[in-house]
Amino acid sequence: MTNPHQIVILGASGDLTARKLMPALTSLSSQGKPKQGFSVLGVSRRQKTDEAFRAEVREALPERLRTAFDELAPRVGYHSADLTREDDLAGLRARVDALPGGAEAGRLVYLALKPELFGPTIEALCRGGLIERHSSAHEAWRRVVVEKPFGHDLASAQQLNAELHQHLGEEQLYRIDHYLGKETVQNLLGFRFHNAIFEPLWNRHHVELVQITVAEDLGVGGGRAAYYDTSGAVRDMLQNHMLQILALVAMEPPASLAPDLIRNEKVAVLRALQSIDPQFVNRDSVRGRYAAGYVDTVRVDGYLEEEGVAADSKTETYVAVRAGINNWRWSGVPFLLRHGKRLPKKSTEVRVQFRNPPIQLFNRPADMTELEFRRQLSDGSLCQVRPNVLTLSIQPREAISLSFGVKRPGNAMVMTPAELDFDYQEHFGDDSPDAYERLLLEALKGDATLFLRSDEIEASWAWADGLLGAWAEGDVPVHDYPVGSWGPSSADELFYGCEGGWSRG
Ligand code: BG6
Repeated sequence: MTNPHQIVILGASGDLTARKLMPALTSLSSQGKPKQGFSVLGVSRRQKTDEAFRAEVREALPERLRTAFDELAPRVGYHSADLTREDDLAGLRARVDALPGGAEAGRLVYLALKPELFGPTIEALCRGGLIERHSSAHEAWRRVVVEKPFGHDLASAQQLNAELHQHLGEEQLYRIDHYLGKETVQNLLGFRFHNAIFEPLWNRHHVELVQITVAEDLGVGGGRAAYYDTSGAVRDMLQNHMLQILALVAMEPPASLAPDLIRNEKVAVLRALQSIDPQFVNRDSVRGRYAAGYVDTVRVDGYLEEEGVAADSKTETYVAVRAGINNWRWSGVPFLLRHGKRLPKKSTEVRVQFRNPPIQLFNRPADMTELEFRRQLSDGSLCQVRPNVLTLSIQPREAISLSFGVKRPGNAMVMTPAELDFDYQEHFGDDSPDAYERLLLEALKGDATLFLRSDEIEASWAWADGLLGAWAEGDVPVHDYPVGSWGPSSADELFYGCEGGWSRG
């Protein structure tokens, strides 16, 4: 009989535990996953009984998970500890060793903590004997899940990696990027490498440009502004989630699905990212910040009015970059990356725009006036040559669509736009697991594919640092955009040399 796993959540009084981790664990347990079962111990400094912790967790769960939680509750406990104190460490070790399975069970420690505590906490846990570097003498596995942000720039990420590696092996570290747990992000690999029709076109010879958009309608209120003000759109979204999407879109096929083979290919793309040339930083990137505006006639505060934001803040809530990848497959193809808060809607998507046919065969039908022709072109009923666009919608709608032109019925040879559309929910129903549920299960199973390796993080930071450095050096302005708009209009200029404009989701 295999021992049940042990999950120790450090920072259990925080928002992440209530909002993401406990719902995910409750859902896993209700499905009998993983089959060994698990117990959970929440840890933080705050004094609390097991019963109080369980009641808090239950209260925060969505209604549909509460009955399932009642089943899991006897295996959920709480322990108050200050890991800077030796006696607390010893107490915690005794408590964890007394969980079902004891010291022989597999142990997953989840660091739901402030980033500055990652290093010291791992050091303390190792010193206290709660986890240790894997050795062949010890059968029971020990893994640590590290939440984002992983570093603030390249130097701090390298330092953090070095601190963690002093105590644990890379294979024990599971650095989270929750976008990798999203169904449609994972499908990027499936779609590209399971279907033979797209891959031959997936390169500089056939692709005109790639757009990656992560638009959010929410702002940074609700207590997050103080953190966000030290971070901004590049550090909060572009360096991690968006570059991960870019890596999956642009990587070479791996030799197999072994975690390290996939991650090797992602790293190769991240390392090939062309650094932003400070000389052209104003041409190739735009930074913005939402200003007060109206949404459905209701006034919404601008970023500078959010509580916790410094009055002289220069933090961006919007970024658009024209990036490039210096390798054989992608050289010369713009990757237009855009993210912003308080845009008109939440929408994450990848658009691959293919090149136009070399000549334009279809013109205005003989019996149509020029004016009517132009009208129909501008309202989209007719099209001259429009590029084929493959849109991979990641959220909130999960879909894949391909746009193309078809001949409109009638005598004239007139082309009109059409679309092939696949909708996940229509096809499969609404049962894809939440990102955290999937990631926790993978970490328990010991599959690191969906987690970031140290070199991936460092390569992403190296590029993001280049952008931030160029902004600082060039004193690049932060353009205001009204809440509910698609960002500063200057971002439209990033399309120089290519047709079309930014996707409106
Ligand atoms: C987080 C960022 O990592 O991702 C947030 O810190 C952002 O600022 C969030 O809102 C977006 O995640 P999702 O899953 O809602 O797209």
